[in-house]
Amino acid sequence: MKYQSIDSSLFIDNRQKFSNHLKANSMALFMSNDILPTNADGSMGFRQNSDLFYLSGIDQEDTILVLFPDVKDGRHKEILFVKETSELIAIWEGAKLDKAQTKHVSGVDMVYWFHEFEKIMKPFFSQAERIYLNRNEHTRRSIETETAQDRFNASVMAKYPLHKYERSAPIMHKIRAIKSTREIELIQQACDITEKGFRRLLKFIKPGVWEYEIEAELIHEFIRNRSQGFAYGPIVASGKNACVLHYVENNRQCKDGDIILLDVAAEYANYASDLTRSVPVNGKYTKRQKEVYNAVLRMHRAATKLLVPGMTFEKYNKQVGEMMTEELLQLGLLKKEDVKNQNPDWPAYKKYYMHGTSHFMGLDVHDVGFFTEPIQAGMVFTVEPGIYIPEEGLGIRIENNFMVTTTGQLDLMKNIPIEAEEIEDLMASRK
Ligand code: GLY
Ligand code: MN
Ligand code: MN
Repeated sequence: MKYQSIDSSLFIDNRQKFSNHLKANSMALFMSNDILPTNADGSMGFRQNSDLFYLSGIDQEDTILVLFPDVKDGRHKEILFVKETSELIAIWEGAKLDKAQTKHVSGVDMVYWFHEFEKIMKPFFSQAERIYLNRNEHTRRSIETETAQDRFNASVMAKYPLHKYERSAPIMHKIRAIKSTREIELIQQACDITEKGFRRLLKFIKPGVWEYEIEAELIHEFIRNRSQGFAYGPIVASGKNACVLHYVENNRQCKDGDIILLDVAAEYANYASDLTRSVPVNGKYTKRQKEVYNAVLRMHRAATKLLVPGMTFEKYNKQVGEMMTEELLQLGLLKKEDVKNQNPDWPAYKKYYMHGTSHFMGLDVHDVGFFTEPIQAGMVFTVEPGIYIPEEGLGIRIENNFMVTTTGQLDLMKNIPIEAEEIEDLMASRK
């Protein structure tokens, strides 16, 4: 791992939070992600299952976490199974955590090898009345493959068909949505690395550079700061490409006079950040570009103020929609009649602003959390309004990450230039 080690107290606390929600005499099982294959003998970079990481800090494949707070033999309240290592295995496969290291990282005392799972676990399955299994229940998941977790769940349920089964996902969504101080520090580190990347770009972007050259500058800056890389597929979209919301080709040359939309951010220690800035390729916004930019910036600030404890997403989205409608009227993009005759299910503003304003963020960029429940202090959200005008070859979005506090919002990206003039000044000082 490139990140600095994390104190095990984070994972110990997280396990306690989870266990507090278990019914009596229950055992919960969590499985790591697979190393995903590509072709021939190739594979993708490893990405741990976010729930397993949250509860254990173990960042490698073939890991199982068992939580059984009411177990009769008190030593086995928490168990980790990890991939067997030895000096010989280390030579061939690279070092994996040994038992002492596993204990140090996670704070779990009982550590066994992965292949011992069935043998060790037999008595505990006999004792447990309920088994909690985990699953990806993100509302926007789209999974065509069978995950390691699915395979594991199927094999447990086949071997122990008469237990009562429960879902861990609703508990995980609830507890992961409220970030601890240590988690906020990790997200802040991701945001700070993103800031370095963005500042580097302000010195690099000029007419003639290619979108992929910008992507390359960022990955260089991210990795040299201990990030594994982008927190999500980077969007480097100049001119009309900015109106393609999920543009990821990043293969166009940036032209004098264009705005380039940069939705690019680093991960750190598996925690995401999520930034968008829209900057002028030649270093100076035109009058029209600045007009639209400032409308989006006003929206960004007004929406942020609404993120307070007790606010519902229904109310938030409605108020943001109303403010956006006003801005689009001012910009001459909507007419009063458009608004008067609008379809309430698809209001007129959606023509120029068709995506959501905020999502949970944490270990996953679109993190887990319940949009159906009121906002609470400790939640982390993006705020990312945009205005997309394909007929003008112009798309502008501004996105920062905020933690909701009891008194307002903590801007985790407050040091990243956001005012049009500040961006222009920094670009003017480039060579
Ligand atoms: N970059 C993905 C998003 O802003 O949600
Ligand atoms: Mn984004
Ligand atoms: Mn976002």
